[in-house]
Amino acid sequence: MSKVIVTGACGFIGSCLARRLLERGDEVVGIDNLSRRGSEYNAARLRAGGMRLLRADLSSAQKAEDAFGAIGKADAVFHLSAQVAVTLSYQNPGADFRDNAAAAFNVIDAVRRHTPGAYCFYASTNKVYGHLKVNRPVGEDMPLDPYTPYGVSKAVGEMYFTEYGRPEFGMATCSLRQSCIYGHQQFGVEDQGWVAWFSIANLLGRDVMVYGDGHQVRDLLFVEDLVDLYLLLWERRLTGVYPVGGGEANAISVAQGLDKIAAITGLPFKSLGHEGARPGDQPYFVADLSWVGRLGLAWSPRTGVDEGLRAMIDWQRGHLEEIRAAFAS
Ligand SMILES: NC(=O)c1ccc[n+]([C@@H]2O[C@H](COP(=O)([O-])OP(=O)(O)OC[C@H]3O[C@@H](n4cnc5c(N)ncnc54)[C@H](O)[C@@H]3O)[C@@H](O)[C@H]2O)c1
Repeated sequence: MSKVIVTGACGFIGSCLARRLLERGDEVVGIDNLSRRGSEYNAARLRAGGMRLLRADLSSAQKAEDAFGAIGKADAVFHLSAQVAVTLSYQNPGADFRDNAAAAFNVIDAVRRHTPGAYCFYASTNKVYGHLKVNRPVGEDMPLDPYTPYGVSKAVGEMYFTEYGRPEFGMATCSLRQSCIYGHQQFGVEDQGWVAWFSIANLLGRDVMVYGDGHQVRDLLFVEDLVDLYLLLWERRLTGVYPVGGGEANAISVAQGLDKIAAITGLPFKSLGHEGARPGDQPYFVADLSWVGRLGLAWSPRTGVDEGLRAMIDWQRGHLEEIRAAFAS
């Protein structure tokens, strides 16, 4: 049995990772400030499953120090907490900086003091590439060029993890620049998590605004496939920085996503409005996954988009009251 710290454990990806770790018998300590809408429901599920939850704001160096000091040694730390919306990073760039850049520094530096031998994972984002002008898969050679405060604050966090992985600190750090992740336990909203938001809006009969021409392409990756990869990276103690998404086989446009969701639910969208593209919205992002084979990892996205969307929508249908309550609060 391993001891694992998951920050942002009550968010979408964190809660899926924490559940998988609990299911296989690991000791899981989650840290979350429960700022994300709906995170309290994931928290209740995980606590019932045996996760210890420390409610702490990791943007505070002191609170991060207190939390990691109280937890002590761990085998792995997955840093998944963040402010995740580009829109909010424009509305309040200071809060975005604190929740992303400062919190990432606070976490990796607290790990250095309290459990430097732990495997340290950082969830980065394709937004660190900024306005990509390519329409081919993005590989490891693509340089950092963030555009948007969120892109910058996430890139800063990633760079600290990379820095602490160099020989002077000698820690085992790894970052994935993640594309569009979707699935269960995701409380997608208009500001972030468009796939889950579109199906929630479809099921609840809410208006949907499409920003941009709807032809933006993303390679969707189902959350359980991403969790498989996290566990494999840790098992191999793989270090470095890599792009990840569903790859070319799972690339769809926003318009195709809307059509697929309506076809699965059997419900029309109440209304679809159209506005100009939002800042930082890349016209095309697909991850080049060739590094996976090069490093000899037995992993590939197993869940196709149609199957993954059906699983996500099944979960949403089964938790509609919870979702309704989260959206009312
Ligand atoms: N979901 C995606 O498609 C996607 C894509 C690329 C990168 N990422 C990255 O993956 C990670 C997880 O994303 P997610 O979709 O699960 O987001 P999420 O919003 O569902 O989860 C983030 C969690 O962090 C918590 N949190 C926020 N600020 C905090 C703070 N200061 N202190 C403690 N807890 C705090 C929130 O309450 C929430 O539970 C993030 O780092 C995000 O940037 C996500």
